[in-house]
Amino acid sequence: MNDNPIGVYDSGLGGLTVWRELRRALPRESLVYLGDGKNCPYGSRPAEEIRTLADRAVATLLDAGCKLVVVACNTATAAAIDFLRAKYSSTPIVGMEPAVKPACLNTRSGVVGVLATARSLEGDLFRRTAARYAEGVEVVAAVGEGFVELVEQDREQTPEAEACVRRAMEEMLRRGADQVVLGCTHYPFLMPLFERIVAGHGVTVIDPSPAVARHVARLLDHYGLRAGENHAPQYRFLTFGDETYRRRLECKALA
Ligand code: DGL
Repeated sequence: MNDNPIGVYDSGLGGLTVWRELRRALPRESLVYLGDGKNCPYGSRPAEEIRTLADRAVATLLDAGCKLVVVACNTATAAAIDFLRAKYSSTPIVGMEPAVKPACLNTRSGVVGVLATARSLEGDLFRRTAARYAEGVEVVAAVGEGFVELVEQDREQTPEAEACVRRAMEEMLRRGADQVVLGCTHYPFLMPLFERIVAGHGVTVIDPSPAVARHVARLLDHYGLRAGENHAPQYRFLTFGDETYRRRLECKALA
């Protein structure tokens, strides 16, 4: 038993899509969310720089007493997960993996689409995952150009957002993708748009965050880290940005 919080980290608001699944799947666990905010977006920054930012974030979450850390950012996972696990080897650190495996298992057309940031798609993690699971399946990857900014600026429900999403998905849909993987934790906030665009085409859009929450639950059991039966969970929000940003994190999470 361990009533300490689980830490959740992202460049900004996106990791809240994982935070809300953790809260649903693990209602007795306290959570500390750190949304960098000051350096978002990470997607086009050099890997070195992302490693430094991720290092600072994980150190902050450990200072806050976190018993396990979820790097709820595909871009930071791609750039820094091996480094973080080596440096903080006594704490379980969970990263985001693009959900290429379930997509490849479920595709009927043999074409799978992946949407992610430029940095994630260039990373080894994506290449390795695609090579491992995508044998005989065509993977059509595209950068969700502007998606992170749309979410950060609360512009998810605008015609501009719809145009952006249509543009990014055009090629994969034209080539017959019937599974589209969301490889960035900001993107599930655009889910209503994805669903409108693929409606009637037999396309499944995969948000990996429920699977991440299930994985965290298994790890808590494995390490004996679950909160006690009577623990009343607390939710804290931290940022490297300002107080206004911190409040936005809180409002978006608890909305
Ligand atoms: N939520 C981050 C991810 O999953 C967004 C990265 C960024 O800030 O560009 O990749």
